[in-house]
Amino acid sequence: TTHRIQDRSLESRDGLPELGSAAIPSVPGRFRNTPDTDMSTPANQAWADAITHRLRGSRIGVDEAQQIRVESIEGVDQVLTRALEAQKEWAALPAAKRAAVLRRVARVLAEHRAELLEVAASETGKTLEQGDPEISEAIDFALYYADQAEKLEADPETVFTPRRLTLVTPPWNFPIAIPTGSMLAPLVTGSAVVMKPAPQARRCGAYLGRLLHEAGVPGGVLTVIDVPEDETGKALITDERVDQLILTGAYETAELFASWRPDLRILAETSGKNAIVVTPHADLDLAAKDVAASAFGHAGQKCSAASLVIAVGSVARSRRFMAQLADAVLSLHVGEPTDATVQMGPVIEPPGEKLAAGLTELGEGETWLSRPRQLDQEGRLFTPGVREGVKEGSAFHLTEYFGPVLGIMHAPTLEDAVRMQNGTAFGLTAGLHSLDPAEIAWWTENVEAGNLYVNRGITGAIVERQSFGGWKRSAIGKTAKAGGPNYLVHLMDAADRERDA
Ligand code: ALA
Repeated sequence: TTHRIQDRSLESRDGLPELGSAAIPSVPGRFRNTPDTDMSTPANQAWADAITHRLRGSRIGVDEAQQIRVESIEGVDQVLTRALEAQKEWAALPAAKRAAVLRRVARVLAEHRAELLEVAASETGKTLEQGDPEISEAIDFALYYADQAEKLEADPETVFTPRRLTLVTPPWNFPIAIPTGSMLAPLVTGSAVVMKPAPQARRCGAYLGRLLHEAGVPGGVLTVIDVPEDETGKALITDERVDQLILTGAYETAELFASWRPDLRILAETSGKNAIVVTPHADLDLAAKDVAASAFGHAGQKCSAASLVIAVGSVARSRRFMAQLADAVLSLHVGEPTDATVQMGPVIEPPGEKLAAGLTELGEGETWLSRPRQLDQEGRLFTPGVREGVKEGSAFHLTEYFGPVLGIMHAPTLEDAVRMQNGTAFGLTAGLHSLDPAEIAWWTENVEAGNLYVNRGITGAIVERQSFGGWKRSAIGKTAKAGGPNYLVHLMDAADRERDA
């Protein structure tokens, strides 16, 4: 996509960036999406090469990042006590003051785009191509929530009151954008935040914490902690002083936490089993390209990833579509993010039982269009897998594998395809490729998912334009969509303002 690109050579690392058309911070109240880096320009290629060069030399400039290690239940208690103390002053500020801090966060993130890409690549294997839009999204969250907080405070009808303490537990697969958005939203409402990064993305989390503090988020108001996932971690969630939890991760995790604390307000964005339907009225070349990108970006490790393509009617027999898809998939350059030309990086760790089965075991009637091959000793680099003949109700139809494997299903009609698309427990993202307005209208009415995409890929939601959240088992707290106008409202308590008679 070309909707947001920028020449990084315009940014000077000394002092404030000299930004061209994409001014950061934006004018308050006039939100604009932050441009991604256009990796095709020579200047930006040199910028990316410098990052991969540093990655190869292991000269990561961010490993001194601080975080608080909490080993005991008393330690948890101290962190929460300090957060609640600091929250009073923070909540007493006018929203404009907190919004100003978020706009400084946006600037600091923009100034550290290269370091953020570096730490995400070195810690989680994310390629620069995949990491770059995450930094843009993190900046967008800061600017967008700043505007939204000011709007809410100016609401003539309703008084919005912050909740005092928010626990944030983000995932490792978007180690920059999701923690940033999940921290900044409650922070700008006036809540204190305790953030526990995913174990696979500790350094990313710690580094983000440092940048947020640098930008002016007060010490106790935000604490990034490293806490073991045992009784100590449980004490954090079960502590009744925690008012709400923003979680991104597996549905089972959200369910477990809800069982520990039935009274806890949980905003969870969870699993997905997402399909793209391709009808005979599609631009098949475009569909093949979008399916490949949605299935194999970040090696398929996105809750939003396409894990199924449902070929309708003659598309299932279309040699052209299958050849295009195979070509798009097989030409993906697989490797380590130390190479800036790599399009598909490693999986986070050697596959567990579920993903291993997805990469090796075929269900009844299934065949490989492209069988995954392991490229390294350790078992983290795989060529993309595509299986044909996935049957409705089979394991592959219903299971989230979270890795580089895609299944092709056949449906006689669009109605059948939508039944298959809706037939899983989840409802996060869904795609349709069709140029027929009647098909698009019917599909949009009948598909059950929080994020619908027509004639484009199904990953990479953009703040404000595509607020992000799921239905069914893809969420708890269904109506709260990140990067959308109602998100902050879900984090606050509302009361009517008294009106003069
Ligand atoms: N928000 C991320 C995406 O849309 C998960 O891909």
